[in-house]
Amino acid sequence: MPLTVVDHPLAQHLLTQLRDVSTPPPVFRTIAKRLTIAVVLEAVRGLPTVDVEVDTPLERTTGRRIYPDLVAVPILRAGLGMLEAVAELFPEVSVGYIGLERDDATLLPTYYYEKLPPVEGRHVLLLDPMLATGGSAAGACASIASKGAAEIRFVCVVAAPQGLAKMEREHPDVPVFAAALDRDLTDNGYIVPGLGDFGDRLFGTMPAVHDVPG
Ligand code: PRP
Ligand code: URA
Repeated sequence: MPLTVVDHPLAQHLLTQLRDVSTPPPVFRTIAKRLTIAVVLEAVRGLPTVDVEVDTPLERTTGRRIYPDLVAVPILRAGLGMLEAVAELFPEVSVGYIGLERDDATLLPTYYYEKLPPVEGRHVLLLDPMLATGGSAAGACASIASKGAAEIRFVCVVAAPQGLAKMEREHPDVPVFAAALDRDLTDNGYIVPGLGDFGDRLFGTMPAVHDVPG
């Protein structure tokens, strides 16, 4: 299963800011959006285009338009931090949502919401910043694939080897695009070195200091 790590200097600069524990949620949101643009630009390489005639101020020439069948599906919640970037790049994109939450103990995802536009025969960008055990991404891919999508491309920020291996086993046809392939997972399923809980950092829901054990 192909993994593309976007090692563009700007992507790596932005990723470093996301990793930094001192980056506060308002800055984290802005940087997450910018980094998503960098990763998505790589992920949409090879999307179908149609030739169109266009009149420049000087003469008629042939240009290309992206074939208008793109669907973006953020996995709630953290995938929402990537959606605005995609909607700005592709204003005509159709958007669906899949709600999944990992159980803290089992690390298995539970489905709590799904609302998808028709995906049959369409190209889907599945958005979730963290590919950890891979349970969430693989579950979302299974649901979208069962509805006949022509192709799914998974766009994330940080991937762990365990998540990649699961995607390779269960969805070998889904290419993965990331800004980094990190080293490992902790026992409680966090990517290391990682960037912590993306959803919490995006939405400012980090546990209060007095709630943190020790
Ligand atoms: C995070 C993340 C992924 C999932 C990755 O979501 O956004 O969806 O964990 O882990 P996995 O690869 O082991 O499945 P979380 O369940 O914490 O929900 P949230 O986005 O609502 O915070
Ligand atoms: N989800 C996150 O938000 N971060 C991780 O490191 C793993 C899963």
